[in-house]
Amino acid sequence: MKIVSLLGSPRKNSNSSIIAERFCTTAQRLGAEVQTFTLNDLNFRGCQACMACKTKLDKCALEDDLTEVLEAVRETDALVLASPVYFWDVSAQMKAFLDRTFSYLVPNFQDAPRPSRLEPGKKMVLILAQTNPDPDSFTDIFPRFDYFFKAYGFTETHLIRALGVPAPGDVKTREDVMKLAETTAEKICNGK
Ligand SMILES: Cc1cc2nc3c(=O)[nH]c(=O)nc-3n(C[C@H](O)[C@H](O)[C@H](O)COP(=O)(O)O)c2cc1C
Repeated sequence: MKIVSLLGSPRKNSNSSIIAERFCTTAQRLGAEVQTFTLNDLNFRGCQACMACKTKLDKCALEDDLTEVLEAVRETDALVLASPVYFWDVSAQMKAFLDRTFSYLVPNFQDAPRPSRLEPGKKMVLILAQTNPDPDSFTDIFPRFDYFFKAYGFTETHLIRALGVPAPGDVKTREDVMKLAETTAEKICNGK
């Protein structure tokens, strides 16, 4: 199984990245091949709305550090998206990646029976870390990712959240969250 992990936090010892790492090391132990990209280290732009991917190309026309990432996602079986919650949403780095996935949609995607250029059946895990300890906060983020990735043909989606973790590394003491990272990796790798 191939896994691509995208880290959307700009900081070292980031909570969302720590959860992603636990997920990935568990998956590697189960035989998965993992490729990790730290979005903040890459030079890339957001979608330019050039519409080349809807008129003359079947991929994004921009050529920058995200080109390899978008190709890797095309090839992967499972995608991990790890982000801090910034202003009630994912980080700008993660949002810029999401906008570039517009290139996965076929030209007439609103009417097409298969709107996606991706092979169906991929799995997605969204990992979020936030300071707010309230489980009812920011619950709109996952349904939006779920909606778009299902439209891209993903058939299985999971959410792992760390609540009340303001400082870098805070999540390391959250055994429930770290355990959920492991069991989610087992589900994805073993199909359980
Ligand atoms: C620019 C910025 C915006 C933030 N906005 C929120 C927010 O809306 N809600 C929240 O609970 N925490 C917010 N936080 C706190 C982070 O979500 C929190 O520190 C989290 O652990 C960061 O995850 P990371 O360690 O993976 O970077 C914000 C932090 C920053 C720097």
